[in-house]
Amino acid sequence: MTNSTTAKPRAQFSSKLGFVLAAAGSAVGLGNIWGFPTQTATNGGAAFLLVYLLMVVILGYPLLVAELAIGRYSQANPVKSASAIVPAAFRLPARGLAFVGLLTASAILSFYAILAGWLVGFFASPVFELLGMTATSEWLESTSSTSSSFVTMALFMGATIYIVKNGVSEGIECWSTRLMPLLVVLFLVLIGYILTQDGAKDGLIMYLKPDFSHISGDMIHNAMGQAFFSLSIGACTMMVYGSYLKKDASLPKTAAQVAMIDTGIAFIAGLLILPAMFVAQNNGVAIYDDNGSLLQSGGLVFSVLPAMFGTMGGMGLAVAFVFFALMVIAALTSSISLLEVPVSTVSEEFGLERKKTAWLIGGLITAFSSLIVLNQDPLFDIVVVASTEYAQPILGLLFALLVGWVWRRDKLLNELKQGHPELETGWFWKIWPWYVRVVCPLLMLFVFVKSLL
Ligand code: PFF
Repeated sequence: MTNSTTAKPRAQFSSKLGFVLAAAGSAVGLGNIWGFPTQTATNGGAAFLLVYLLMVVILGYPLLVAELAIGRYSQANPVKSASAIVPAAFRLPARGLAFVGLLTASAILSFYAILAGWLVGFFASPVFELLGMTATSEWLESTSSTSSSFVTMALFMGATIYIVKNGVSEGIECWSTRLMPLLVVLFLVLIGYILTQDGAKDGLIMYLKPDFSHISGDMIHNAMGQAFFSLSIGACTMMVYGSYLKKDASLPKTAAQVAMIDTGIAFIAGLLILPAMFVAQNNGVAIYDDNGSLLQSGGLVFSVLPAMFGTMGGMGLAVAFVFFALMVIAALTSSISLLEVPVSTVSEEFGLERKKTAWLIGGLITAFSSLIVLNQDPLFDIVVVASTEYAQPILGLLFALLVGWVWRRDKLLNELKQGHPELETGWFWKIWPWYVRVVCPLLMLFVFVKSLL
C-alpha cells in the first residue's frame, strides 16, 4: 500500500488483491465463526443456511456494490462521500445518513470488542496453563466474569486503536493479506479432526439437511441481519474501504470476490462448529435445554470450541493457541475497519491529527463497551439487535436508494465503468440499477413486515 501512486495525499490499497483481502478481512470475523454458526444452530440448521445464502445474493451483493461505488467515487470519508453523489438539496440528509452510519459502526465495535476480548482470553489461557497458573487461565476463559471481560476487551481495543492510528497505508492491508489462507487451512484440518469424533454426524445432518418447517418471518429477518453483518454493509466500512480503492478495479467483480470469500468462510466455519456442538454434547457439555432450545446461545461457540480442544489430549493446548490466535487476528481485521469509519471522518472533517483522533474515538468506544460489560444483560443484546438487525439493513438500503434514485445515472455509469469499461453493454448494467431502485426496497420491506407479523 502506498501514498505515492497518485497526486492525492490520500492513501490507497496497493493492489486489487490487496484490496480484496482487506475488504474480505473486514467481512470475515466473528460474524463468520460466532454469528453465523450460532444463528444457524438456533434457527434450524440447513434451512437457515439456504435463506442466508439467498440473502447474500439477492440483497447483500447488490448493496455491497452500491456502498463501494459511493466511497470510490469521491475518495473521501463517508460523510463527504455520501454528500458528493447527490445534488445540493440532498446534501444535508446524505451527510446525516453517513453520520448515523458512523454511529452504527461505533456501536458494532462496542459489542464486537467484548466478544473479541473473550477470544483474547481463550488465546492467552493455554499459555498461563502451561506456566502452571491455572487460576489465571480459568479466569481468562470465564466469559461471565466482569473483570476478565473488561481486561480482555480493553486489550483488544488497544490493539485496534494501535493499528488504526497508523492509517491504512501501514496497518490494514498487511494484516489481511497473511491471515486468510492460514485461517482456511486450520479450519480444514479441524474439520477433518472433528468429523472423526462421535456425534459429529448429527451436526453435519442438521447443517446440511434442510427442514423447511423452520422458515418463519423472524428467521428470514435474522438471516438478513446476519448477511449484512457478515458482509460489513450498512455501517460505512465498505464505503471507507471503497474510498481507498484505485480506479482500475472493477467494482462488480471486486464485490463478488469479497462476498464469495466471506460466504465461503462462513460455510466452512459452520462445517466445523455445528458438528463440534454435537461432539461436545456427546461428551457431556449441555447444548440444548429440555425444550430443545439452545442454552446460552450467545456464548455457545465459546463453550463448544474449548470442549473440542479438550478432546485432543496434549495437542489440544497448542491447537487452541493457534486457533484463537488466528481468530483474534480475523476479529482485528474487522474491528480496524469499524474504527476506521469514525476516525477517518472526524480527522478529515475537523482537520485533527489521525493519531489523536484514533485514541480519542477509540477511548470513547472503550468507555461505552465498559458500560455494556457492566450491564451485559440487557444492554449487550439491545446493542447487537439495534445495530445489526435494524440499523445495518436500513442504512444499507438508504445508501442504495441514494445510488439508485438520486445519483445522476451518467455519473454512476462513469464510476462503474472505471476498471470495467465493457460494463455498459453487459448484463450487470441492465439489471443492477433498477434492481437496487425497486427490487431491493421491496424485498426488504417484505422481510420487515413478515417478521413483524
Ligand atoms: N463483518 C464482520 C464479521 O463478520 O465479523 C463484522 C463487521 C465489520 C460488521 C464491519 C460491520 C462492519 F461494518
